[in-house]
Amino acid sequence: MAYLDHAATTPMLAEALDAYAAAARDVGNPSSLHAAGRYARRLVEESRERIAAALNARPSEVVFTSGGTESDNLAIKGIFWAQRAASLNRTRVIASAVEHHAVLDAVDWLGTHEGATVDLLAVDDTGAVDPGRLGGLIDRYRDEIAVVSVQWANNEVGTVQPIHELARLAAEAGIPFHTDAVQAVGQIPVDFAAGGAAAMTVTGHKLGGPVGVGALLLGRDVACTPLLHGGGQERDVRSGTLDTAGVAAFAVAVEMSVKSQQDYAVRVGALRDELIARVRHAVPDAVFNGAADDRLPGNAHFSFPRCEGDALLLLLDAQGIACSTGSACSAGVAQPSHVLLAMGADDDRARSSLRFTLGHTSTIEDVDALMAALPAAVERARRATAWKTAR
Ligand SMILES: Cc1ncc(COP(=O)(O)O)c(C=O)c1O
Repeated sequence: MAYLDHAATTPMLAEALDAYAAAARDVGNPSSLHAAGRYARRLVEESRERIAAALNARPSEVVFTSGGTESDNLAIKGIFWAQRAASLNRTRVIASAVEHHAVLDAVDWLGTHEGATVDLLAVDDTGAVDPGRLGGLIDRYRDEIAVVSVQWANNEVGTVQPIHELARLAAEAGIPFHTDAVQAVGQIPVDFAAGGAAAMTVTGHKLGGPVGVGALLLGRDVACTPLLHGGGQERDVRSGTLDTAGVAAFAVAVEMSVKSQQDYAVRVGALRDELIARVRHAVPDAVFNGAADDRLPGNAHFSFPRCEGDALLLLLDAQGIACSTGSACSAGVAQPSHVLLAMGADDDRARSSLRFTLGHTSTIEDVDALMAALPAAVERARRATAWKTAR
């Protein structure tokens, strides 16, 4: 199989798997006082330190969670509730229009159930947010904004956002800024302290760690109302027994992916460029989506006019090529991508798109396999689409 869906989930690194297996053999709740518990606690705290060091945060700023979806929900809802509790005026939430559903739907939920006013920041035709738009909203509603959330990099088209500038604008106005860095860590340089965000989402399974473990990096002074109540673990912000083995493996994966980020970007970026050049050559009317330069190294995204993305995906799958029509989380739901629509694409272009994402196990053979199958698959998908439309 040629696996070209690393943005959905990427294989675990061997070292992370080893760390998982080693820790999973031991018993011990990190909150227990006996020796087994203390051993588990030490492993958790060492892991916290490793993650903090890799991402330039303080260990106390690392709040372990079950992954990206939970971290996004915790940041958006938790910070909103804490801000509104401190000042009843603060009921406005700002997010970009191209966020992952873990952010968009949390924001939407606040609008529907908590009386929040939601502003979605428009993007340009590459998917990038213009900091001037955020600046305009801050000038207008400074004392009403509870939280701003803009992803570090887009999961569908790979566009990298001007996070430092956006975070600075929010910080200057005293507004907490959250960024979903799920797709960014290990792909491009990510520095929590220098980025200037109040909170940042990270997840294990996009960078070579296990599924079901992640973190919210949460500045020490950032008030955040918990979503989960219970044993008071994780600064009382996220109750629940910690997954010691998952946390240990997650830490190894964060450390290794951050350490190898530069080499990764060169190697995988070159493969990605080769893939893009060959797709353009083989399917000259394919439309390249996203930013040319400020882009994740592993992401290539195209619309194939007169094709349905779903049909093309299945035809490629039958040839052993795994790719995606967008984020795995909304795959299966036959809707055009909200990201492409926000970038100004019409319904047809949004529905005819495919995402190819490379990762740490990718080789030129994966690109060769895609190119051996793609032209015929596009032709077949076009015939199927023409037949459907003619009926
Ligand atoms: C940008 C982004 N945020 C959040 C998530 C959700 O993360 P998780 O699968 O760990 O819940 C994803 C996964 O697709 C993502 O790409």
